[in-house]
Amino acid sequence: MKEIFMVDLYPLIRPFFMKMCPEKAHLLALFSLKLGLGPSYKSSEESLKVKLWGREFLNPLGIAAGFDKDAEVIASLFKMGFGFIEVGTVTPLPQPGNDSPRLFRDIANQSIVNRMGFPGKGLEVFAKNILNFKKKHPNTSGILGVNIGINKEQVSPVDDYRKCMKMLAPLADYIAINVSSPNTPGLRDMQDVEALDGLLAEMMAVRKKLALKSPPQIFLKIAPDLDQKQRADIAEVSIKHCIDALIISNTTVTRPAELKHELKEEAGGLSGKLLKDISTEIIRDFYRLTKGSIPIIGVGGISSAEDAYEKIRAGASLVQIYTALPYKGPWVVSGILDGLATLLKKDGYNHVSEAVGTEVKIEEKKVKAGVG
Ligand code: FNR
Repeated sequence: MKEIFMVDLYPLIRPFFMKMCPEKAHLLALFSLKLGLGPSYKSSEESLKVKLWGREFLNPLGIAAGFDKDAEVIASLFKMGFGFIEVGTVTPLPQPGNDSPRLFRDIANQSIVNRMGFPGKGLEVFAKNILNFKKKHPNTSGILGVNIGINKEQVSPVDDYRKCMKMLAPLADYIAINVSSPNTPGLRDMQDVEALDGLLAEMMAVRKKLALKSPPQIFLKIAPDLDQKQRADIAEVSIKHCIDALIISNTTVTRPAELKHELKEEAGGLSGKLLKDISTEIIRDFYRLTKGSIPIIGVGGISSAEDAYEKIRAGASLVQIYTALPYKGPWVVSGILDGLATLLKKDGYNHVSEAVGTEVKIEEKKVKAGVG
């Protein structure tokens, strides 16, 4: 059974949103959500419930990092129907981010180039906002993740991650270590094997030292722009440190031929439909490299049930969206979830977990049998 309290009004307001400067449109969306104006949807399809790390996800669809950077609209995002919310990226100190304009639309390709550079109010305000949410909603069953990063002006990246980890570990179900946003100098260097090895060892040690009754899972969010050697190294280090999940992927710095001409020269990360196949390919690869031993959260260009299903079949246990929201509106959440339940049923799956990595498994069987 499901509850829908409002009809999809987005087609009516979308032209207005698309005429606005993209960043202003985003701020308006956040403002509306703060007023509680979003849709209300709750999927209770048994086939969509996910149990991982002993945690119950009402469904496998989450909102990706970057939408609610300061953890201000958690309640409204849960109300929209997401099974999990990832807030942040948060940095220890407040910072303005890069100069505007820093967000660009390619409407024809339903894609975005952004070089926001982690603007945000900083760790203290972020933690207060989460505490306020928890106070107001003590019985929430939704899964809350926080995505942590580093300030542009910092002396030691590891110190910044450590500060975020210490303050937020008691407040979150999972911590996503972001080493993949392209707009903070030096951040992606943390994906290099030695730096990553040191960082993950430190994060695991901090979590252990905190000795929490219910410690958060630790996830690693990676870029789609990795060569084969980097992929193998990251898979190996992630297995070594028992990372709980890989979030694949962040935005790409590549510029597909179809991208709107003017945006090809803009610095920043590309998200949306033009990222879809790039991120699916790397999900598939990591599912193979890790032999399915580390759950994957698939993100990049999902805007329909079919897209979500494709990521799941490539190896994702959970999925996230961001860019589809401004293009399709908040009702995209219920659309993806209802559609996904139908697709699973059509293919004879009782449960979403049964579909995870099936495409890769089928391919491997074919190779073993010497077919294709
Ligand atoms: C992002 N993304 C992002 N990721 C992250 O880890 N920390 C962040 O602060 C942000 N900020 C951000 C801002 C904007 C404007 C966009 C469009 C994206 C990346 C996001 O979480 C996701 O990984 C990609 O956008 C790919 O998913 P979609 O947008 O194609 O569904």
